[in-house]
Amino acid sequence: MIEVRDLTMRYGEVAALTGVSLSVAAGEMLVVLGPSGAGKSTLLRCINRLIEPTSGEVLVAGEPVPRDRAGLRKVRSQVGMIFQDHNLVPSLSVLKNVLTGRLSHMPTWLSVLQFFRGEDVRIALECLRRVDLDERAWSRANRLSGGQQQRVGIARALAQQPRAILADEPVASLDPKSARLVLNDLRRAARELSIAVLCNLHQVPYAIEFADRIVGISAGKVVFEGAPAQLDRQALARIYPGLETEDESDSPAQPAPDLRHVPVELSA
Ligand SMILES: Nc1ncnc2c1ncn2[C@@H]1O[C@H](COP(=O)(O)OP(=O)(O)OP(=O)(O)O)[C@@H](O)[C@H]1O
Ligand SMILES: [Mg+2]
Repeated sequence: MIEVRDLTMRYGEVAALTGVSLSVAAGEMLVVLGPSGAGKSTLLRCINRLIEPTSGEVLVAGEPVPRDRAGLRKVRSQVGMIFQDHNLVPSLSVLKNVLTGRLSHMPTWLSVLQFFRGEDVRIALECLRRVDLDERAWSRANRLSGGQQQRVGIARALAQQPRAILADEPVASLDPKSARLVLNDLRRAARELSIAVLCNLHQVPYAIEFADRIVGISAGKVVFEGAPAQLDRQALARIYPGLETEDESDSPAQPAPDLRHVPVELSA
């Protein structure tokens, strides 16, 4: 569904990404791990064309995204975004926030009038049901907890009926219970709606619990790619150089459950 080929992104002298290739299949939840500054956000911005990569290719649904306005419109309608701080309009109802996910499907004159069709409302309510918040549809967004607001952000992305969702550290500011609800909603949406989900995370235990597959990035390069069970100590040391391992003489790879002792917050 999403394919990134040999992507390089330089900000002047800084090589944020170098030769990154990866793909995310429909229905798959891919988690990208990497230390602060590794290039995770840059990768998402290149995929949805918030920034133009220095070189390399991004394909969405098998097609390269053209660099013109039509290409941009297409990628924005097919790829939903979820941000760390959910970006809801606090004074609007939960339902109206989710309905903004329908804007790209509406004729311009309707969106200008902020007039939503019954069909759009039905889709928005269905998306709220998927994150178990349909009963809060008429609450003001800022009356909800941070975790609930993030799940409204997921519903808004789903209302767009995207082929893919990019999530940049969607649980960074949430307590563990809310974080797990958010990640569970994302994974379920991926599976039930065949959406390709690419999710940047800082928390290794969440990646192991929720990812179908993990890609590790360090200093702009892919240094690991595999199933959660393959994320052993050596792999973690490649992704997080300088991370102390408990027992260096322990040469055989440790199975995944041992990695749950890795600190939840690895960012600086
Ligand atoms: N607009 C920019 N101009 C110049 N350099 C940038 C810009 N955005 C990012 N960088 C640099 O590119 C590199 C990758 O940054 P990026 O934000 O993608 O990392 P990240 O993995 O998302 O980090 P974090 O986990 O802290 O969010 C860093 O060295 C960063 O300083
Ligand atoms: Mg980032």
